[in-house]
Amino acid sequence: MGKQSTKRSQRVLLIPGPFQGHITPMLELGTTLHSKGFSITVAHTIFNSPNPSNHPDFVFLPLSDNLSGADISSRSLIALMKTINTNCQVPLRESLAQIMENPEPYDQVVCIIYDTIMPFAEAVANHLQLPSIILRTNSVSATIAYESLPRLQAAGYIPLQDYMLQDLVPGLQPLRFKDLPISKFGTLKESLEMIADISHIGTSSAIIWNSVDCLEPSALAQLKQHSQVPLFTIGPLHKMAPASSTSLIREDTNCTAWLDKQAPDSVIYVSLGSLALMDEKELAETAWGLANSGQPFLWVVRPGSVHGSEWIENLPEGFKEAIEQKGHIVKWAPQREVLSHGAVGVFWSHCGWNSTLESICEGVPMICKPYSGDQKVNARYLTEVWKVGLPLEGVLERGEIERAIRRLLVDKEGEEMRQRATDMREKLKLSLKRDGSSNNSLNDLTEFILSLQL
Ligand code: UDX
Repeated sequence: MGKQSTKRSQRVLLIPGPFQGHITPMLELGTTLHSKGFSITVAHTIFNSPNPSNHPDFVFLPLSDNLSGADISSRSLIALMKTINTNCQVPLRESLAQIMENPEPYDQVVCIIYDTIMPFAEAVANHLQLPSIILRTNSVSATIAYESLPRLQAAGYIPLQDYMLQDLVPGLQPLRFKDLPISKFGTLKESLEMIADISHIGTSSAIIWNSVDCLEPSALAQLKQHSQVPLFTIGPLHKMAPASSTSLIREDTNCTAWLDKQAPDSVIYVSLGSLALMDEKELAETAWGLANSGQPFLWVVRPGSVHGSEWIENLPEGFKEAIEQKGHIVKWAPQREVLSHGAVGVFWSHCGWNSTLESICEGVPMICKPYSGDQKVNARYLTEVWKVGLPLEGVLERGEIERAIRRLLVDKEGEEMRQRATDMREKLKLSLKRDGSSNNSLNDLTEFILSLQL
């Protein structure tokens, strides 16, 4: 991607959502826009602050979020986001007003790009008469599903009843009611209120998606039909910009040496992202499913991700032998490096949108076990539309896990799915090329941002 002649004096202010799956795509968008000549400031919460030293070209502006330990540990994620949106509004308005009055050493801010879960930024932009643009870190299809929830509630489908979970949702095929992105992280009322907040475009001038036209053409066409503002699909963002670490947790890079010793396409890589939680029974079933599959496994167990455990101290007796023979467990992996390693044959994932994009970009088929929100929509697309993943539904059970792993790593079915995943990878690569859809969309976005100040 060639640099454009945009002068560095045009500064874009980015406001990421304060979670790994949100910070990463926003910082990547920053790197991408920087490569187009814009200067970048990142205004971020103190909670889950990104590491400025990984981005020496950016200016970082911490926003006082006034969160107490109790806010962070005991509240639902939705309630936490509400507090952040309330507490950060004044600090952002004041810092930005100051920057705009005295542009030195900062230069002129031409627009604010904010994560859709940080809608307070739109109010601030409005107040300061600055243009704003929304970044959606989930898929276009998930957005449509989110925005359909009020309609489904008004039609009496929500709250969901058990008998309807397997039925297709009118107007949202191939989604079933059980795939709707209703969050586990708060009450239904909180979830619907949050969706109303994040669906509110207000005075924002455009929406950016970390997605690719060829992945979800009909969802995109549907959205374009109704949208009042331009839409830019410029993903996968991690392939648009040169890599620099965006990780909030230290990555254990030793696992690549372990992968180097494994046969090609033989390893199952297991990771549930930065937020999903499991209980001890699920931990034990996962452990035995992995061990009984007989395949080598690289398993990320995030500290604090198992209810009632610090880390892996409650793994079942006898499983340690399986680890010594076949496995490797880490607290956090360099996931992209892992997925691009030739030894990795399957990714067992919670189907967060970043993990989904990272896996399909490397042509790695998936075992899909979504936990909450948009992950369920992504899992349905992976298994039913793109057909590069096997679903793991219902209660986690060792026999089913073992069968799913063997179907993908040992049986012919796995070969076919790997071929489809490889084909998909090649299609995505084309979107990044000179005349590819994401590259064109990025050029359009650059022009659009420059036009905002005219
Ligand atoms: C959440 C939602 O699940 C996701 O769908 C939404 O769009 C953003 O917020 P998260 O659950 O953390 O994010 O999942 P995901 O979107 O997959 O992001 C996780 C990120 O952490 C990925 O970029 C992945 O590469 C990284 N990761 C994960 C690591 O670097 N190392 C690990 O060991 C695990």
